Amino acid sequence: MDGKCCTCRAPVNIAVIKYWGKRDEKLILPVNSSLSATLGMDELHAKTSVAASSQFKDDRIWLNGKEESVSNPRIQNVLKEIRRRYAQKGDGDSAVMKVHICSENNFPTAAGLASSAAGYACMVYTLARLYGVDGELSEVARQGSGSACRSVYGGFVLWEKGQRSDGTDSLAKQIAPADHWPALRILILVVSDQKKQVGSTEGMQTTVATSELMQRRIEVVPQHTEQMIKAIKDRDFETFARITMQESNQFHAVCLDTYPPVFYLTDTSRLIIQMVHAYNTMCEKTRVAYTFDAGPNACLYLMEEDVARVVGLVNHFFPPGSDTSENFVRGRPVTLLEQPS
Ligand code: PMV
Repeated sequence: MDGKCCTCRAPVNIAVIKYWGKRDEKLILPVNSSLSATLGMDELHAKTSVAASSQFKDDRIWLNGKEESVSNPRIQNVLKEIRRRYAQKGDGDSAVMKVHICSENNFPTAAGLASSAAGYACMVYTLARLYGVDGELSEVARQGSGSACRSVYGGFVLWEKGQRSDGTDSLAKQIAPADHWPALRILILVVSDQKKQVGSTEGMQTTVATSELMQRRIEVVPQHTEQMIKAIKDRDFETFARITMQESNQFHAVCLDTYPPVFYLTDTSRLIIQMVHAYNTMCEKTRVAYTFDAGPNACLYLMEEDVARVVGLVNHFFPPGSDTSENFVRGRPVTLLEQPS
């Protein structure tokens, strides 16, 4: 392993059943199951290189070109677990060899675009390749960032919350491969690439501790999940879209019910929500769904046949360089970040 280097890429995933709230902070065990679609490898992704050398004195990590503290407990969790698995293989003592990790995203970090999901999934996968460790990696990625466990797989991925206190059954599994629904598309509207004010860890903790609506949410997520799995298997876009939007709305309602409240949506996010509903009403059919994570940026799910019209609509209501709401203040337009094919 001495002198070896490995580079991998891992894509972002966009949740349609949202993960929000932990029952175990250290092992990162969620209060509810969640479900997402993983984007294609050529779209939003993290790229990580890891080098191991007997010459290295310490483990070190660079994120988007800037050195960060490797003592971050989540990075430590991941490193320890990979090294533990490596040691179990009994391949000598190079498990203690120090590593240098270099990771970058091709999109804004910490702006509610699942950067930690792609980042940790990628780090775990790259370390596993370098150490020659096989086995279930979603369990390791989960200990870096919960949503990262879903980016370990492509297509439609369910993260089962699990029952056990040691987290060994809190794993991600693919429920349908990427090519199962070839006409499904995602558009990402970047409202802001600023770092969010309340990180998801802190936001979740406060929600679990204070939100009265959260209990209701925990009760309904299993039904949403079951209906969503069926909608994906049946390629039933209307049901898929309705639950996606209801899930996003409920997640942000729970954030608002947190005390003090957590605001991730902005006026522009709300204009996008109105635009989508107006379009669906005009079509007399649900043709587009929005979903927002812990940030103001919108992810729109739609079918291929609607992409051109919806892109036209976005450009009409949010023209590049427009002075709509906070974009004017920030001096930024809504950017249509991607149009995966
Ligand atoms: O993995 P974290 O801690 O970044 O959690 C993010 C959770 C959401 O993105 C808001 C929802 C989800 O399921 O991805």
